[in-house]
Amino acid sequence: MSTPRHIAFIMDGNGRWAQERGLPRTEGHKAGVRSLEAVVDQCIRIGVQYCSFYAFSTENWKRPAREIGMIFRLMEIYFRRRKKTLLKRNVRIIVSGDIDGLPATSREICLQIMAATATATGTTVNFCLNYGGQAELRRACALWSLQCRETGDFSVPDEEEMRTLLYGSDLPDVDLMIRTGGDRRISNFLLYQLAYAELRFLNVAWPDFGESELMAAISDFAKTERRIGGLAAIP
Ligand code: FPP
Repeated sequence: MSTPRHIAFIMDGNGRWAQERGLPRTEGHKAGVRSLEAVVDQCIRIGVQYCSFYAFSTENWKRPAREIGMIFRLMEIYFRRRKKTLLKRNVRIIVSGDIDGLPATSREICLQIMAATATATGTTVNFCLNYGGQAELRRACALWSLQCRETGDFSVPDEEEMRTLLYGSDLPDVDLMIRTGGDRRISNFLLYQLAYAELRFLNVAWPDFGESELMAAISDFAKTERRIGGLAAIP
């Protein structure tokens, strides 16, 4: 079975999962971290080289402070608890997004785990935190215009140059994007990198997404013919 090189996840449906069970939304995020952990482990096991998780968007600041606080707290606990294991498993952690805008403790932990795993050569796990696709592209424009002024060369960036302007500049494009929670939207996630991705929208809430759902999505992906602008293969 052909395994996608880069899988990206929109982990949606945590709040509804909790509410359906008469629990506070924050319990949904706790359950969401358990799914995240299982999915990361499975990706490492089956040799997915890159996986990206939409953990906190630039729009998520509109949520109640208590919920925001809990999401960052869960992230901090996850990184603290898993750091040793991730290092042992040769996993590289990167964070995409405006790290400077994160609460101080979260920022510190993100910087620490990125530094600690920077030379790992196994699976790269990309956490998109305080991330928005449009903000990433605006930031790329700003970086490019700075470079143009410095070099005096005002040409359009080529493909390789464009990558250097994005967060996680060594990440390849996404092959498979999975969104749980039933909505069929991209929601400002990896707008540039999703250009040719296969999109799968599942009616399962993120806390109920696990190994069997991941394997089903991957085997469905393996059946897809990806022409990327070319022609279908002649049998
Ligand atoms: C979407 O569900 C989920 C989020 C906005 C947060 C997801 C974050 C985590 C699972 C924790 C992050 C942890 C790490 C380790 C990075 P929703 O709340 O929008 O669900 P709803 O659509 O049902 O309301």
